[in-house]
Amino acid sequence: MEKLVDPFHRAISYLRVSVTDRCDFRCVYCMAEHMTFLPKKELLTLEELDRMCSAFVRLGVEKLRITGGEPLVRRDILTFFRAMSRHLEAGALKELTLTTNGSQLERFAGDLASAGVRRVNVSLDTLDEAKFAQVTRWGRLPKVLRGIDAAQAAGLRVKINAVALKGFNEDELFPLLDWCASRDMDLTFIEVMPMGDLGGEDRLDQYWSLKDLRARLAGRFTLTDLAERTGGPARYVRIEETGQKVGFITPLTHNFCESCNRVRLTCTGELYMCLGQEDMADLRAPLRAHPGDDAALDLAIRAAIARKPKGHDFDYSRRRVDGTVSRHMSHTGG
Ligand code: 5AD
Ligand code: SF4
Repeated sequence: MEKLVDPFHRAISYLRVSVTDRCDFRCVYCMAEHMTFLPKKELLTLEELDRMCSAFVRLGVEKLRITGGEPLVRRDILTFFRAMSRHLEAGALKELTLTTNGSQLERFAGDLASAGVRRVNVSLDTLDEAKFAQVTRWGRLPKVLRGIDAAQAAGLRVKINAVALKGFNEDELFPLLDWCASRDMDLTFIEVMPMGDLGGEDRLDQYWSLKDLRARLAGRFTLTDLAERTGGPARYVRIEETGQKVGFITPLTHNFCESCNRVRLTCTGELYMCLGQEDMADLRAPLRAHPGDDAALDLAIRAAIARKPKGHDFDYSRRRVDGTVSRHMSHTGG
């Protein structure tokens, strides 16, 4: 079967799949406190998610990242992970992974490892209990820390993703770094992105440029740029003094589009070809129209990939959120 390649000769080998728009947290940069979630019938069922992901794997996707909302609050989600592990065993899928807020990891870590998950990304912006409750509104730090313990005990490699927030976790740059080093976890900082709306809060005021963050790191340590790229907006440096690897995800200030290898599937079966653009393809319709036959689905996927744009269009530069995309991160799954 011919693999997915877009018009700019980029092989599409990485699919991010949001399995729910729900979450047990309400992070201030992600959701309003009182969110209206999608009616259940809009969501792909676990069987439909299986068909969808299996189609992508058949078409050349080698890495699946399961996201949300919070993927582990989706009922029976382990069934889906266990189903995907057959593609790992067959060798078609090289990696099955997830991004989680960690709240349910204590419960799920062992089973995820058994399903073939080797690595998890845990979102954590602060190690201060009060600040954690403030930024996540509904989250509780000790539970997440127990989740991280459980993940490591189950043999999962943990990477911490911290959103860099001005005036919020600036003072935790080095404590976070030390904590990750002491637990042998990689750390990646994410620049806050202009998505959704903040329910009155001004995201521009939370913006802490990773250029500045990096300069502060460089003030204390020797940083070496690493060539390693994952086809996304992340870049990595090594801290020579400690050997630690630190990532920077800067979708706003870096052009990473030329190496983009990924597309995003929402929990309702919409395929977004680019994080920064509105264009999407409805894959649920062809999927539901032909329950026993994936030919129409395969065609719809190929047609969507043929529309993948060259690049994205965020722009903070005029102090206006010009490139704003109206959907929430919890919809496209980061
Ligand atoms: N900007 C940057 N990162 C965000 N996330 C959610 N909303 C935003 C935003 N507006 C992050 C979470 C998590 C990942 C899934 O997306 O913190 O790390
Ligand atoms: Fe939930 Fe993640 Fe959004 Fe926070 S950032 S509300 S943990 S989906």
